[in-house]
Amino acid sequence: PAFTPFAKRMPVAPVASPVGYADGADVYRLAVKQTTAEILPGLQTEVLTFGGNFLAPTIRARTGRPVRLIVANQHDQHANVHMHGAHVAASSDGHPMDLIMPGQSRTYEYTNKQQGTTLWYHDHSHGTEASHVYHGLHGVYVIEDDDEQYLRLPSGAFDVPIMLRDGLFDANGQLVFGGNPAERDVMIANGQPVPYFPVAARKYRFRLVNAATERVFKLDLGGAEMLQIGTDGGLLPSPVPLTELELSSAERADIVIDFSRFAPGTQLVLSDAVRGPVLRFDVQRAFPDFSRVPDRLRALPALRRASVQRDVVLSFDMSGPIPLGLINGLPYDPQRSDVMVQRGTTEIWRVFNGDGPLNALHNFHLHLEQFRVLGREGSPTLQQDAGLKDTVQLPAGTAVLVQTTFREHLGKYAFHCHFLEHSSLGMMAQMEIVP
Ligand code: C2O
Ligand code: CU
Repeated sequence: PAFTPFAKRMPVAPVASPVGYADGADVYRLAVKQTTAEILPGLQTEVLTFGGNFLAPTIRARTGRPVRLIVANQHDQHANVHMHGAHVAASSDGHPMDLIMPGQSRTYEYTNKQQGTTLWYHDHSHGTEASHVYHGLHGVYVIEDDDEQYLRLPSGAFDVPIMLRDGLFDANGQLVFGGNPAERDVMIANGQPVPYFPVAARKYRFRLVNAATERVFKLDLGGAEMLQIGTDGGLLPSPVPLTELELSSAERADIVIDFSRFAPGTQLVLSDAVRGPVLRFDVQRAFPDFSRVPDRLRALPALRRASVQRDVVLSFDMSGPIPLGLINGLPYDPQRSDVMVQRGTTEIWRVFNGDGPLNALHNFHLHLEQFRVLGREGSPTLQQDAGLKDTVQLPAGTAVLVQTTFREHLGKYAFHCHFLEHSSLGMMAQMEIVP
């Protein structure tokens, strides 16, 4: 179905309000609900939601201040919640087999013992994660911290999370799942297809989240500069000017755009290199701006000396009727711990994409800890490799070297390709952290 780009204003997700305070934690409630939403004009699309709206509420947490999230599953299939990028106990990680059955509720505890950053929450029910997220089980979770506040970056109404994703719609306006994800041709920003967003002629902070199950956004602003200030895990040491920004599924970029450089009336289009316009910023009148983007944001934690090295290979087995996703030659088996990690260890993982150019791109996501990218083999370093990361691109035939320290928490956590169609097909493995 056709739609007119820039016809609707991009909404900003409401910030969730705690329903109470218990055991030192702010308590939030969310329900998984099936409903319909008008995404394309005049058509009702069946969607899955956190909270009843296609655009789920944003949870704003603070470093060190716990959040308790009680999720009621009102859908007729199992679901769960994984807080992507969170440093969290295994019991609250939303393990792929730790599901909320229909009609049941589940409580997740997030200690928020990590620096300020942009996380997102999504379904992780094994085998159905791709379809559930594609149908709408995705929301933004922001962690704020004091040090970051002292920097005086744009805040309040000028700190705007933007969740990007894609969709393929049939003639009745229903989301088509399956098939080739490259055919998903409708670019969606905060739940609206190619909307416009009025901005004052001043600085804004945008927290971009790629919530598409299988897409790399290659974004530009028609040559205009964006300042990247943060990656998946928090602020960069200093701002990086960019005219192009690549984000694969689940990656985040925190950027500042200074619209005071443009005359009121200017329209700036954020475009994807493949699919074209995603979102248009309409510059309006000037507005007082006391925010800054300091040259020094936050130093990265020092890299420790690693004592363990591992190899992780992602690939597809294409010999059967349906492709089988593999990590180190095996499809996901929740009964098996593929990697045993001793708590406290610093490890370097060489993650290799063992597929040829036909199966092309994967990416790599590790639960529990943010990592650093030490380097790449067979491909140049990407801008998005800087800073603290939990998800990185992995072009065909190339490797990425990542390092992390497993500082806290025991138990079983997943690592996988975050093209969720691939993890649903088995491209996922399990690490077990032991004392
Ligand atoms: Cu975004 Cu294993 O998840
Ligand atoms: Cu993959």
